Amino acid sequence: MQEFEEFSTLLQRPVEEKNREFQRQGRLKHMISASQLSIPLLEKLCHSANVIRKMSREPKGNERLRKLLAHKRAMLYFTQPSTRTFLSFMAACQILGLTCNEVRDPKTSSEVKRESRMDSIRMFSSYFDVIIMRSQIADFAECCAYLMNDLEKQERRSVPIINAGVGSDEHPTQALLDMYTIIRTFDFDESSESRPSRLADLRRSYPNLASGPAHKTYAFVGDIGRGRTVRSLATVLAQYDGVKMFFISPDHEVLQLDDSLRQSLKKSGVVVEEFNSLETDYQGQSLLSQIDCLYMTRIQREHNSEQAEKEIAAIDLEPYRLTSDRVAQLKSYTPILHPFPRDSVIGEIPTEIDSDPRAMYFRQARNGMWARAALLVHLFDAADSLHLAYSEVMPA
Ligand code: CP
Repeated sequence: MQEFEEFSTLLQRPVEEKNREFQRQGRLKHMISASQLSIPLLEKLCHSANVIRKMSREPKGNERLRKLLAHKRAMLYFTQPSTRTFLSFMAACQILGLTCNEVRDPKTSSEVKRESRMDSIRMFSSYFDVIIMRSQIADFAECCAYLMNDLEKQERRSVPIINAGVGSDEHPTQALLDMYTIIRTFDFDESSESRPSRLADLRRSYPNLASGPAHKTYAFVGDIGRGRTVRSLATVLAQYDGVKMFFISPDHEVLQLDDSLRQSLKKSGVVVEEFNSLETDYQGQSLLSQIDCLYMTRIQREHNSEQAEKEIAAIDLEPYRLTSDRVAQLKSYTPILHPFPRDSVIGEIPTEIDSDPRAMYFRQARNGMWARAALLVHLFDAADSLHLAYSEVMPA
């Protein structure tokens, strides 16, 4: 895009080089890519998310949380549709006392008078302390981070940029909340002293089961090729030891795992297996019985070309839908996740599955509020103040 021409050389660089510019003194400066979510950072953010979650249950905790970032203002610049990401960021801001404003329809801004998007961003940075943005334009959030870095070098006002789902291949805060959900699920309440350990109980049926995201099999189902949540989560999970990933999608080039992700996962040591149906055997046993975490996705029809629309309409999607019989084949602890929205017509997860204890998708969406609040605390360097407030107001 011509508007981003001046950043084209920066965009071409290896991810490690770019990520160095999105952090400052070991802390995130901008949240642009899931590759910034290292295991130590995830642990810190999940710990803060737990603290915020616990404090918000108590009136005194809520009151202290609302003072934490009460001096900050957030711009929610969402020009692509969103329910969960927009509302959970707004709720996260409200929990921490930030004041929010929003632009959701660029027709209501001066972009209709041919103001460039980059000028809009610079204007937002004049009035707000963080810009949280969703757009269908690839690389837009990354270019905004470069603009802010340039302004900082010139000793002008610069604010953090958060990518809330930009383009077709990155949704880092969704990966953050997915990981928060996975880490909490695979904690198995080991530290609970008031009841027998759930892990010990589960080990009677699954002797090799261990806590944590490592040494697990993750299955991604549906629109793998165009699922930015799949790409972001798989990139983060690839950091853990002993991870196996199953990708289950229709045999169509736009829906299958793309080669760049396949190669990067294999390079990280992930065992990658691809299938065309949930009803398949793998190494002599049902595929479903071998999954530790199931990540369902919707076929993203909005990205279809005219040609793809016709071809995908002709595909039988039944092999990519959950049924009660299929859920019954899963392990007793396997969480069923979905970034949502789910497709109410295709029904990749029919509503009868919602009451199964393994159906975690509504809890996963709520976790987005805590995880995104933890991210805001981190970006504004307020983690020490959060933990101090926790020790002061929460009963031991
Ligand atoms: N998962 C997700 O990004 O949902 P929304 O599109 O509703 O924000």
